Amino acid sequence: MESVEYRSPEKRSRRRCCILSVVALLLFVIIVAVVLGLTLRQNTDTLQQTFIARCKEFEGYDCEKIWGAFEQAYVGRDPCNVSVEAYDPFIAVAHFKPACNRMMFWSKAKDVVHDFTEKRDCFVTLEDTLLGYLLDGLTWCGKEGSSETFTTDCPGWTDCQNNTVRSFWTRVSAAFADAACGNVTAMLNGTIAIPFHPASIFASIEVKRFDYPRVRSLDVILVTQENPVSNCTHASLKDLQRELDKGITYSCKEVTEAHIHECSSPEKPCGGCW
Ligand SMILES: *[C@@H]1O[C@H](CO)[C@@H](O)[C@H](O)[C@H]1NC(C)=O
Ligand SMILES: *[C@@H]1O[C@H](CO)[C@@H](O)[C@H](O)[C@H]1NC(C)=O
Ligand SMILES: *[C@@H]1O[C@H](CO)[C@@H](O)[C@H](O)[C@H]1NC(C)=O
Ligand SMILES: *[C@@H]1O[C@H](CO)[C@@H](O)[C@H](O)[C@H]1NC(C)=O
Ligand SMILES: *[C@@H]1O[C@H](CO)[C@@H](O)[C@H](O)[C@H]1NC(C)=O
Repeated sequence: MESVEYRSPEKRSRRRCCILSVVALLLFVIIVAVVLGLTLRQNTDTLQQTFIARCKEFEGYDCEKIWGAFEQAYVGRDPCNVSVEAYDPFIAVAHFKPACNRMMFWSKAKDVVHDFTEKRDCFVTLEDTLLGYLLDGLTWCGKEGSSETFTTDCPGWTDCQNNTVRSFWTRVSAAFADAACGNVTAMLNGTIAIPFHPASIFASIEVKRFDYPRVRSLDVILVTQENPVSNCTHASLKDLQRELDKGITYSCKEVTEAHIHECSSPEKPCGGCW
């Protein structure tokens, strides 16, 4: 009797303490889950929101459908095992009208070329079309067993060959080059050792898709600075000429970066500024 009365409050308090810690643990787990869930949601939301907002700047597209076609390429997948072809459904819905004679390709000259095409309507780069505009400058990937989109801790460009972002740019670059028509222009960098690098997207994907007579000419603008490292006689540009489809007219011109900035001025004519 005595022992029972003695034991029972202690038992009760032990039980209460136990219940309290279980409740605390549960609360902790719930809070962690909510915070984690919110963070993950935010990741998907941020990329999706940016994507949809950028898409809406273009008229006549079903942006939700394009997002769905894009997302299916990588969601739930190992971010190092996303094939170039996984983006085919995205290409199919994000169709664009090529601008013959005004298509501008570039390699290692991104800032200069975009500064120019933003100010003047003369040329159109991939990043000026829906295909390239939606994800320019962004990083994203999925994860096996997850339906989320991540924007951090994604493999970098050279971490693995078939990564989410690189496969995307390979696919959209191919689509852009497949649509190239008439006279096309390419801005290459004359301050680097190899202006036409075989591993670049321009060399490995785009040039290979320039078919004559769809493409009639390729005009290379080699952007130089005060002390050019390479010029139009560079061996890699000889390789470029050799790789071009027979019938395509080739030209190369060295143009200083300062002159290109001058050509951005609205008083300058679109053609023949360089
Ligand atoms: C990559 O994904 C494909 C399925 O799409 C699968 O067959 C293959 O085993 C995966 N490769 C690796 C290295 O995980
Ligand atoms: C990348 O994917 C291609 C097929 O799309 C495959 O042939 C190649 O082996 C893959 N590369 C790596 C490193 O997994
Ligand atoms: C060419 O590459 C150099 C070195 O990476 C860089 O400093 C320069 O801005 C590039 N030129 C253009 C036109 O982007
Ligand atoms: C395209 O290039 C060819 C040869 O380089 C030139 O004769 C022609 O006038 C150009 N056409 C346009 C529309 O610029
Ligand atoms: C072009 O570069 C080569 C090798 O660097 C040099 O020998 C040649 O004089 C340059 N040509 C011109 C026109 O600047």
